[in-house]
Amino acid sequence: MAARPGVLLTQPCVDSMLPSLEKSFTVFKLWEASDQDAFVSASAHSIRGLVGNTVVGASGPLIDALPRLEIVSSFSVGLDKIDLPKCRQRGIAVTYTPDVLTDCTADTALSLMLACMRRIPAADRFVRQGRWPAEKNFVHTTKVSGKRVGIVGLGRIGMAIAKRAEAFGCEIAYQGRSPKPNLTFNYYSTAKELATNSDVVVIACPLNEETKGSINREVIDALGPSGFLINIARGPIVDEQELVKALVEGRLGGAGLDVFDDEPHVPQELMSLDNVVLTPHVGSLTWETRRAMADLVVANLEAYFSGKPLLTPV
Ligand code: DGY
Repeated sequence: MAARPGVLLTQPCVDSMLPSLEKSFTVFKLWEASDQDAFVSASAHSIRGLVGNTVVGASGPLIDALPRLEIVSSFSVGLDKIDLPKCRQRGIAVTYTPDVLTDCTADTALSLMLACMRRIPAADRFVRQGRWPAEKNFVHTTKVSGKRVGIVGLGRIGMAIAKRAEAFGCEIAYQGRSPKPNLTFNYYSTAKELATNSDVVVIACPLNEETKGSINREVIDALGPSGFLINIARGPIVDEQELVKALVEGRLGGAGLDVFDDEPHVPQELMSLDNVVLTPHVGSLTWETRRAMADLVVANLEAYFSGKPLLTPV
């Protein structure tokens, strides 16, 4: 019987991942190793597949340390933790997990938008701190319906956010590389124009050289003191220092942030702001979605090693 292919799993990801990988592969658990470099070099001769995620992906040095690597099956839709040029150069196949996480990630965007505009976490704190009887009324908040929601990146997730925001009575606009055919939403070619014409900007684009730092001071100021910024994509798309400054100085109305520049580090200045809602990169973090992502990761590896077409190649 042929040896089962070796797969390096960088993080446990979800409860179903390991048992389902172990049915077909010999699994090397990177997160359990006390000296990860030594572990990788000792197992490199057996590793032909790699499963990474948004925390530990397939970096250039890791790929270099795996001379027999043939496939990277990423437990994510974002590809920013994978050295794609190196994979191309080495002829390594890459797969990812689109579609299955679209709904949950869009739900997270809407949750942050509603929570932030209506200040739900601050209202919850108000009740828990026993301030209701003494202070009578919580602060007034911002109505959602009728607002202009500008989406940066109208891909699968952006589109799912647009549909949800429309259902809340919002007017939708978007910014991207080019306008999409057959859409009635307003299109703007720059993030600054989008922000100028929006009450809420929701970031839903991939992180790459073009988008890194693209939500800068100009864009934030175009959104202004009554505007809200929601980020469910990647932290480095926003100039985080400028965002923090704008929030502290009251130049931006509020922010709902699921992602940060240097996760899990969150700027301390944000902790005391009631107009900011912070979540720990939970866009796709539901049992259903994470298990569907795991199934897709494993199915792509199984397809590859049995010579079948990949289900979701990059
Ligand atoms: C992804 O898949 O890229 C998401 O960020 C995970 O939540």
